[in-house]
Amino acid sequence: MEREHAGFISDGKRLTDVMGQTLTEKILADHLVEGELTPGEEIGIEIDQVLAQDTTGTMVWLQFEALDLDEVQTELAAQYCDHQTYQFDFKNTDDHRFLRSAAGTYGAYFSRPGNGICHNVHKENFAAPGKTLLGSDSHTPTPGGLGELAIGAGGLDIAVAMGGGAYYVEMPEVVNVKLEGELPEWATAKDIVLEMLRRLSVKGGVGKVFEYTGDGAASLTVPERTTITNMGTELGATSSIFETDEKTKDYLERQGRGDEYVEITADEDADYADEVVIDLGDLEPLIAKPSMPDNVVPVREVAGEKVEQVIVGSCTNGGYEDVLPAAKMVKGREVAKHLEMIVAPGSKQAGEMLARQGWTAEMMAAGVNVSEATCGPCIGIGHVPASDSVSLRTFNRNFEGRSGIEDDSVFLCSPEVAAAAALKGEIVDPRDLADELGDLEAPGIELPEKYDGSKSDLITPENAIDDELIKGPNIGAVPLKDPLAADIQGEALLHMEDNITTDHIIPATSDILKFRSNIERLSEFTLSRVDDTFAQRAKDSDGGVLVAGENYGQGSSREHAAMCPMYLGIEAVFAQSFARIHKANLFNFGIVPLTIDEETYEKLDKGDNIEIVDDVAEAVRSGAEEFTIRVNDDWEATTSLKASERERKILAAGGKLSWTKQQYESD
Ligand code: F3S
Repeated sequence: MEREHAGFISDGKRLTDVMGQTLTEKILADHLVEGELTPGEEIGIEIDQVLAQDTTGTMVWLQFEALDLDEVQTELAAQYCDHQTYQFDFKNTDDHRFLRSAAGTYGAYFSRPGNGICHNVHKENFAAPGKTLLGSDSHTPTPGGLGELAIGAGGLDIAVAMGGGAYYVEMPEVVNVKLEGELPEWATAKDIVLEMLRRLSVKGGVGKVFEYTGDGAASLTVPERTTITNMGTELGATSSIFETDEKTKDYLERQGRGDEYVEITADEDADYADEVVIDLGDLEPLIAKPSMPDNVVPVREVAGEKVEQVIVGSCTNGGYEDVLPAAKMVKGREVAKHLEMIVAPGSKQAGEMLARQGWTAEMMAAGVNVSEATCGPCIGIGHVPASDSVSLRTFNRNFEGRSGIEDDSVFLCSPEVAAAAALKGEIVDPRDLADELGDLEAPGIELPEKYDGSKSDLITPENAIDDELIKGPNIGAVPLKDPLAADIQGEALLHMEDNITTDHIIPATSDILKFRSNIERLSEFTLSRVDDTFAQRAKDSDGGVLVAGENYGQGSSREHAAMCPMYLGIEAVFAQSFARIHKANLFNFGIVPLTIDEETYEKLDKGDNIEIVDDVAEAVRSGAEEFTIRVNDDWEATTSLKASERERKILAAGGKLSWTKQQYESD
């Protein structure tokens, strides 16, 4: 669909000729509808493409329905069914049918359950250089490997973007990651991003876009680049992106989309906020130890640890080019008898091609359990590890409990390291295993001549099955909040530590996530992994507030992590710092995110009565940045609110849905 501010690809405009620009600035400048490209300032950008996955998608479409619009306004919208594809009861199937009906009714692509993980399928079919993509999944930046500026956001932001509204984000700082040289044998793209995590930590990318340049970047294929851009999310980055070149063109041609290639690069004199230099030649196989993606060490440091489960797959390393090295390594051999090796291709395209080429049979003969194309085990849905056992995964996250069991011990690594461990039965540096076996060659990276999987599971808007919404009994109503009150006071129902994830707030395990379209029921599980009495206490006290340390809400874009606390009446969160997407979600659902200093955090306790002294609604509206709190009528402290004018209006209206409806009504 052509739009007034369509990007340079759809209307033939050239990129701005202003010199000294980064690639990110060029794409943003081309899509800018509000603000200036000054780091830290809020900007509004036009969105070309949107994607939603199944656990966030039902709310996206219910919210889109609440906006009373007839059809999707972006160039492209795609709804994927990937997270919860196993059908345990009617709830998932009801959700998938609802998603299919919504895609059909409003004009989006629908990717059926089993067709693959949203990022993999999007990369294969739609990702295009120079475009903007907004997705209700935190790993949306994956297509940055093809020069698309892709950002993860909450479902409500997706719904508004699909309605033609701008997406608002803090202008990030652009950091140049200069990759030099070439990867040695057995080191992979996964090791590049693990090295970034080792150096910069899970907070190292907050407020930043990482732009990868240099001859090392040019040496990587698109699938290798997307492994890196995918896992930029673990650095907390707004996005990650590569310049486009012959490798990008070649990939698109192999996908049958060569005509979508556009050359976009940073200017030679681009002005970056910072620079990170990695000499690829210095890298070796790396591994993230439990239970944080930045807990990275060389594989050899943890060699010898017994492994009971190995999984190759996910949106990070589930592509054809990721599974193939593992398949080559196990071909003609057998995986250790005491462990289970599972391969879940990231997409049906990958799975179908591997099957046609005989690789699936080779893996099965080696004792590999080949699974369907799904996120599944990445969020604890299926293939849960045994108690107190080591699981090696090619995924991007190993937060405690995410695998579906609390006492898990999940390591993150490349497919090569995973396959080596499967053969040896313990963690082993693949270089040592190669020495030991004598005939194990480094598989390297290999692209197929042509990506020729069928498209039977991707339903186009033209071939839509439905033209009206189908809502089963598990599809609830979208909760709305009253406008922001003048008085906020309540009990600190929890006092939480640093790095509370969205998995802590709303666990993504199948027994809980099946209620994702039913907020009343889902909210009963809110923060149950921190304190299982929380939801009941929140209900009993008719709301309250939360206290947390640094990086509150890190992890996924799951807006349920803000929506459920809102439903339970939580009015404010006091934290030392907030993760980007979650903070936006708190605004979107009318919860006030206030920053406190370390001293106040230490002094506060669970059970304290916290009162915001000011008239909150008035202060938010008038742009106040400091709010005084009185605790137990005894002592006071200063908290701060960092919010744009637009975010303040959203808070005051009781959330973005109410605010957007007001906007439409006043237009
Ligand atoms: Fe799915 Fe895990 Fe990626 S849940 S989208 S495979 S991070």
